[in-house]
Amino acid sequence: MSVKEEVLKALATQPGKDISGSKLAGQCHVTRNAIWKAIQSLRADGYQIEAVTNRGYRLTLSDDTVSEPRITPALTTRWLGQDLRVFPVLDSTNNYLKQLATEGSFHGTAAIADSQLGGKGRRGRGFYSPASSGIYLSVLLRPTDSAEVVSLYTSCTAVAVAQAIEAVAEVSVGIKWVNDLFIQGKKVCGILTEATMDLESGGVDYAIIGIGINVAPMEFPAELQEIATSISNACGQAVSRNRLIAEILNRLEPALEQCSTRSFLEESKRRSIVLGKEITVHRGGDIYPAKAIDINRQGHLVVETSAGLRHLSSGEVSIKMKG
Ligand code: BTN
Repeated sequence: MSVKEEVLKALATQPGKDISGSKLAGQCHVTRNAIWKAIQSLRADGYQIEAVTNRGYRLTLSDDTVSEPRITPALTTRWLGQDLRVFPVLDSTNNYLKQLATEGSFHGTAAIADSQLGGKGRRGRGFYSPASSGIYLSVLLRPTDSAEVVSLYTSCTAVAVAQAIEAVAEVSVGIKWVNDLFIQGKKVCGILTEATMDLESGGVDYAIIGIGINVAPMEFPAELQEIATSISNACGQAVSRNRLIAEILNRLEPALEQCSTRSFLEESKRRSIVLGKEITVHRGGDIYPAKAIDINRQGHLVVETSAGLRHLSSGEVSIKMKG
């Protein structure tokens, strides 16, 4: 661990409390001047660190810069996020983990970026990922589950993330099949799962679940203003991104372990903002009206159309709500 990382870890474990320069120097086995340089470098990275004469340094409590030392102490997981990599900026956390996967990284590795330059959404769309505002989190899995169960991971994750958001903010979170979370009629979170098959075994080699959440008060570009919101915009509360990340990982680990039992399906249906509604289905060039009536054990959306019942798989279709 570098001196800078050691200093950050020491300050982050006692946020809001002063730690003297000489104590930090002793802990890190370096001079006070080296501590001062590390503090300058952390400030340049955006950390708000106050220097109080004769008392030392403190990390300002309101500072919610995402960082590994602020997440790890709150983790109760056994394997998810035990290797946790946090960056000020990445192209895409999903792409970063894809690269790690090809280099042999382990089941449960997680990557977080404060901002993304090329955040990816479903169907080739982008995901708005400005700095200091959202959570851009991906996890790498090497599943022993069948491909059929892996295809349920997005729905299973949606339930875990909805629970995590409700644990940190006074809001109620709905799920728009299959990968979007909504608060007060607007999208706050999108999930993108990408998987690679092992052709020899016919199983899944690795899967990456990417979760993007709008958290802090945010101004959206014109094209998103009517359809997107953030947790803070919706509830007027400040929400700690570090705490929410830990809540998500703590809920996601058991959710994925139990995914094959489909026990999440009941809650997924209860939270659905689509079931019972008239929708428009887009499948390739085909567009038709339907009524959403169920989500089955394969995670397919069952819809009623003029031609009878259809079972829609998330890979093939997108749906739009009417009205
Ligand atoms: C969607 O809304 O269509 C899915 C959005 C998924 C966005 C997340 S942000 C973290 C991860 N990295 C990406 O590039 N995309 C996902």
